[in-house]
Amino acid sequence: MKLPVYLYGHPVLRNESKDVTPDYVDLKKLVADMYETMYFSEGIGLAAPQVGRNDRIVVIDAEPVSKTFPECTGRKLTLINPEVTVLDGEKVTRAEGCLSLPGLSENVSRVEHINLKWVDEDFVPHEEEISGFLARIVMHECDHLDGHLYIDHVSPIRRQLIRNKLNAIVTGRIACDYPVKYAPKKHKNSNGR
Ligand code: NI
Repeated sequence: MKLPVYLYGHPVLRNESKDVTPDYVDLKKLVADMYETMYFSEGIGLAAPQVGRNDRIVVIDAEPVSKTFPECTGRKLTLINPEVTVLDGEKVTRAEGCLSLPGLSENVSRVEHINLKWVDEDFVPHEEEISGFLARIVMHECDHLDGHLYIDHVSPIRRQLIRNKLNAIVTGRIACDYPVKYAPKKHKNSNGR
């Protein structure tokens, strides 16, 4: 089942997400729905807050960018309770986008090498050193679990330049090819202003 993608401005994107426990109800169904939602909206990663759940769940399928980034070839990851450790400080700047910020793409500087620990949807533990664009995707998605968005890493000047685009998303003045949930409308006073 496709789920609506919660857009920038919605408070669920700014909350700290909770660890998932083995008694989590319908975890596999949620993971399957997240994959379906991600594929339909042509994303390569999706975090649970983006479908309105403040739980530490991420799905990634990086295959669509594997021509440009060979480290992404065949990489499909279901991350429950992921933990990222930075392995070295070398940083690279590349453009990122996000399904919660349709129509936007901005350069973000991130480290290239991380260690990732997680459990899968059967709660089997995994650990792997990950590099390059795959590491970037993982960090972008794990940021969502802490209430962070990639535009938080963008310079204040650049933020100012995209302010109108951000406001358009917050106020629902954008069209989108996939089902979305807009931010709740701010309370208006009696004059309607
Ligand atoms: Ni995102």
